[in-house]
Amino acid sequence: MVDTASDARLVGAVEHDISEDDFPITGWHHVKFYVGNAKQAAHYYSTAFGMTCFAYRGPETGHREHAEYALKSGGAVFVLAGGVTADSEAARHHAAHGDGVIEVALEVPDVDRNYRYAVKQGAIAVAEPHDVTDEHGTVRVAVIGTYGETRNVLIDRSDYSGPFLPGFAERAPIVEPPQKRFFQAIDHVVGNVELGRMHEWVHYYEKVMGFTNIVEFVDDAIATEYSALMSKVVANGSRKVKFPINEPAEGKKKSQIDEYLEFYGGPGVQHIALATGDILSAVDRMRAAGVEFLEAPDTYYDDPELRERIGTVRVPIEELKARRVLVDRDEDGYMLQIFTKPQQDRPTMFYEIIERHGSLSFGKGNFKALFEALEKEQARRGNL
Ligand SMILES: [Fe+2]
Repeated sequence: MVDTASDARLVGAVEHDISEDDFPITGWHHVKFYVGNAKQAAHYYSTAFGMTCFAYRGPETGHREHAEYALKSGGAVFVLAGGVTADSEAARHHAAHGDGVIEVALEVPDVDRNYRYAVKQGAIAVAEPHDVTDEHGTVRVAVIGTYGETRNVLIDRSDYSGPFLPGFAERAPIVEPPQKRFFQAIDHVVGNVELGRMHEWVHYYEKVMGFTNIVEFVDDAIATEYSALMSKVVANGSRKVKFPINEPAEGKKKSQIDEYLEFYGGPGVQHIALATGDILSAVDRMRAAGVEFLEAPDTYYDDPELRERIGTVRVPIEELKARRVLVDRDEDGYMLQIFTKPQQDRPTMFYEIIERHGSLSFGKGNFKALFEALEKEQARRGNL
């Protein structure tokens, strides 16, 4: 929703004129989750992720089935929805999947045009373009299906002046917002799909949204002794919206993607990367608030090859090592990144915090180090 030059740099966006696109996208609108207890989740994202609750709908506002909290941090907006009644969609989804993403919503200039194009190109039609109205105006919305039960919602809110979306009432933050945001924007949203289906979903985004495949990982580059995955990234023209898609690859033992698919009960969003201008302070504050991160091994930092490969970055490597922040470099620049542990009871969704300095990639060089750390966690859960 916020769009500044510095936000564009943070997420590795490039100059691009969307008026030429078959499927023009202005940017991310929000990510919506179905969770077991939205009231408590909203508190966690406020205290541990530094997000600010700004809007709400629920039984008190005439929305009988769900309690929904909208939170933001800069341009990143999350909606946490929980079932108030046993037969609500959120309660059913939560019973099947645990806490997880139901909607990845994109802001578009003309919902009807995008929807028509996508459906003509073979998109899964979930909801035709329609108006949603309240006293603050009208929002045009349509919904396209993607992997699993996940949906891509298309939103045009140019004729709307309310706090969030129709039906939501403004509400005060749950706790005092942090002086400085932990993160400013969504960088990418990653999906896990079944073995053999990655290319199909890559092709889906190429066809229905006109995305292009921007990076390719091959399995041998990122396979470790025990688990492996294949990953491809599709992005829109401006590269603001990036959708990496993973599938499990053959390994000696169970892949982390297989573990996700088993516990989530099918394909879904694996992680959301949040872009920050200061990963060190974000990680320090998140850790202080109880967020657990994957710990890269000491050997990662002491490896002379790594030091050679990454060259000079904005802080001494000891600062990164102290926080277990990973670093990777490509031809365009470097990036710092770290991954949380799963953020709900099931070993499914997690977050990445990313600080880009020119690099437009996703940390390919870190996959091996990361997987070794992931596998240690998987073994502790008895799922390796
Ligand atoms: Fe990522």
